[in-house]
Amino acid sequence: MSVNERETWSSRIGFVLSCVGAAIGLGNIWLFPWRLGAYGGAAFLIPYLFFVITLGSTGLMEEFAFGRERKAGAIQAFKEVYAERGIDWGDKLGVIPVLGVTGVFVFYAIVVGWILKYFVLALQGQFAVIDKLPAYFGSFAGTPKTIIWHLLAIIITILVLRLGVKDGIERINKVMMPTLFVILFILLLRSLTLPGALEGIKFLLVPEWSKLANPKTWIMALGQAFFTVSLGGAAMLVYGSYLDEDADIPASALQTVIFNTTASFLAAFVIIPAVFAFGLDPKAGPPLLFITLPNIFKQMPGGYIFSVLFFLSIIFAALSSTMNLMEVPVEALMQRLKISRKKSVILVGGLTFAVGLPLDLSMKLFGHFADFVTIYLIPIGAVMAAVTYFWVYDITKARQAINQGSDNPLGTWWEPFAKYVFTIVAGVVLILGIIFGGIG
Ligand code: PHE
Repeated sequence: MSVNERETWSSRIGFVLSCVGAAIGLGNIWLFPWRLGAYGGAAFLIPYLFFVITLGSTGLMEEFAFGRERKAGAIQAFKEVYAERGIDWGDKLGVIPVLGVTGVFVFYAIVVGWILKYFVLALQGQFAVIDKLPAYFGSFAGTPKTIIWHLLAIIITILVLRLGVKDGIERINKVMMPTLFVILFILLLRSLTLPGALEGIKFLLVPEWSKLANPKTWIMALGQAFFTVSLGGAAMLVYGSYLDEDADIPASALQTVIFNTTASFLAAFVIIPAVFAFGLDPKAGPPLLFITLPNIFKQMPGGYIFSVLFFLSIIFAALSSTMNLMEVPVEALMQRLKISRKKSVILVGGLTFAVGLPLDLSMKLFGHFADFVTIYLIPIGAVMAAVTYFWVYDITKARQAINQGSDNPLGTWWEPFAKYVFTIVAGVVLILGIIFGGIG
């Protein structure tokens, strides 16, 4: 294929599954389950579902349509819109969301490295023999031992991306996503039938209505809604840029939200009941995956096979995200430097690996970097994309672009909602994230 011929998805289901793969990631697995329990159980679902269905799908429709309309990633798409208004530095603005998403890729690739290592440990049956799991993780993460795994994560992503959108990303997601859901169902049955699982189910489901009076519940639900569907102004936009004119964007956005939310629930009901059954503390973040759960597999009947399945499912969830994340800078360099996909993946792989190396060696640096990217860059990118498409471009034309090919087109009522409510709330997500030190 020549350098300037743009690929398209081969099927609608392939596109949606790739978006589902992009959306489902660490946010669903190490944030949602704990948040659901900690912020009121079933009560938390009210703000969360409300935000993810209204705002999450609006943001997805915006990114899909913006990308499809311009047949380009964020840098070129921004450039064109601003140029039409006589502003010639739109591309410089478009660099920010691209950098944000690339930043997520940098730290995600490191986590995928840890997951690959733990998958191998599971295969070797090591959880049964490792004495102190917290000490083990402490002697691995943040040390040179992670480098090779980090490199492996990047190489796997490179191998998929160099095959292209249709033959690489789409084809592998069509296998990985259904398999991910099947594995999560198997794990669900195991977890729910553990003696003592009921306490965990209660933690997740018994509504604590009083928590709805606490603004933090709403704030965390809002941050989760934006982060979990990958709103940052570039990641979903690049997948949208490979869409045909007859693709149904509102339906695809809604399907992405629904599958993504289903995966969050499954993860919650796999993880939390097991945590309670073994009398452990539900936690968020790396300790959950790399300490608490291995500890459970150690004691659980059938722990070996379930640990292998569990880490395999996490690999699918996380790798399908790194493919999307890496595609953003890969597309940008292909377009800017007029180089082939194969060259671009090597360039991006090498550069992001080099940037990530210092983070391999220091968990503190890793934390600061991940915070900077997720608290500042990603929300800024989401705001910039909304402002650019809904304000600088034109809200009516944006709605028409979204409706192109749709069976259920959005009415004019949607315009003030997107232009004012969505854009302002995206700004609020940014500000609250800064105040609270991260809500996504
Ligand atoms: N949605 C991803 C997750 O849940 C994270 C992400 C956010 C990816 C923003 C890209 C952009 O893990």
